[in-house]
Amino acid sequence: MSRPVLVAPSILSADFARLGEELQVISRSGADWVHLDVMDGHFVPNLTFGPPLIAQIRRHSALPFDVHLMIERPQDWLKAYRDAGADRLTIHLEACRHVQRHLVQIRELGAAAGLCLNPQTPLAGLEYVLPDCDHVLVMTVNPGFGGQSLLEPVVGKIADLRRMIDGLGLPTLIEVDGGIDRGNAQRILAAGADVLVMGSAFFREQEKQALVDHLHAAAIPNKRGKPHAGRSARSP
Ligand code: DX5
Ligand code: ZN
Repeated sequence: MSRPVLVAPSILSADFARLGEELQVISRSGADWVHLDVMDGHFVPNLTFGPPLIAQIRRHSALPFDVHLMIERPQDWLKAYRDAGADRLTIHLEACRHVQRHLVQIRELGAAAGLCLNPQTPLAGLEYVLPDCDHVLVMTVNPGFGGQSLLEPVVGKIADLRRMIDGLGLPTLIEVDGGIDRGNAQRILAAGADVLVMGSAFFREQEKQALVDHLHAAAIPNKRGKPHAGRSARSP
């Protein structure tokens, strides 16, 4: 048995003047989720888009919208992003004092709940909120910009998180974000990732379907001998 690999292209590297078409490109590639990077200019030193844009592009894709909130006080915005069409909502541990409460709020809104850790944030403490997470998003760059290089030391954190999740027998998915390309994807999957976010590497690729096929085929055998999580368990 092997864990399925999910691919989540980030529209941060798409042509914003043609977002509807870019979403169709993502669907045609065979990718699994659309990753949407929301930045507020405070939590990260960049600005992107908010609920109105997500609501407008929602009808251009049938894929799950995986919304990564790089914003202060994400709890104030959860319903707005859910109403706009988010299927999965990820908040940053560093942005929340009462993270468990907000993870529950996300699930109560009917979305899958995700918790994100910046590169320097240790896994300690995460263990106690893992049952409330449908996925953990491990940042392998400092958030704020696409096109950065993967921070190699964080690959060890993915492996530690894999052991933690498997040790607790949880179905929580590990999603990895930042600097992932064809060259390093295999190592990230081998460390224990389930979901690969890919921005610049996806959009600069000419043969997008071949890239996604290649990543799907790179599934790593599950050492525990059981499927990690069925596709139905990972969709909201
Ligand atoms: C960075 C974002 C990423 C970004 C990834 O803050 O969270 O999702 O789009 O882009 P690449 O794959 O180019 O590093
Ligand atoms: Zn992201």
